[in-house]
Amino acid sequence: MARLAVFASGNGSNFEAIVSAIDGTGHEVCCLICDEAGARVFERAERLAVPAHHVSYGGRNREQAEAEIEAILARYRPDLIALAGFMRILTPSFVDTRRQKIVNIHPTLLPAFPGAHGLEESYRAGGSRLGITIHYVDRGVDTGPIIRQVSITRSPIEDYATIERRIHDLEHRHYPAVILSLLDQAGEE
Ligand code: GRF
Repeated sequence: MARLAVFASGNGSNFEAIVSAIDGTGHEVCCLICDEAGARVFERAERLAVPAHHVSYGGRNREQAEAEIEAILARYRPDLIALAGFMRILTPSFVDTRRQKIVNIHPTLLPAFPGAHGLEESYRAGGSRLGITIHYVDRGVDTGPIIRQVSITRSPIEDYATIERRIHDLEHRHYPAVILSLLDQAGEE
């Protein structure tokens, strides 16, 4: 049995997919950390009975916000952290002390289109291959070692909303599956 902490900033559809997939496996989503007060992910956490914590980044630097995150994590002692739409960059020291213990989902085929607007940018670029990347988090923005990439072929008639839905469907299938296998590994250590 292993414990997962999820960091999110907004809607939380990946968070919900992860919680549903982990339910009944013996592993546990021990907490949600979110930097945006009022984000929809808080409603999901409440409904799914996952302890949720708001950590504000407003009016202070990343180190100060992360000190609060560290205090929360010290209580839950997660084996793995999954970033799921978390829109903050973690400090080098936070990341370096957790090598291969933090994973992220990105809605493009990295290294193409990193950053906050990757999906829109990859859609507008017009290529026929789109997809998702699940990777370990390192000091860079969407640069860490890739764990799984899944691509789709887009048809020229598909609009942005259709592509976004297809990409999210892929995320909701593959991110929980990767996380489960990492939790299985962590549980054996
Ligand atoms: C996802 O598309 C993910 O790839 C990106 O942020 C989005 C989060 O969506 N990092 P949600 O909050 O999980 O619905």
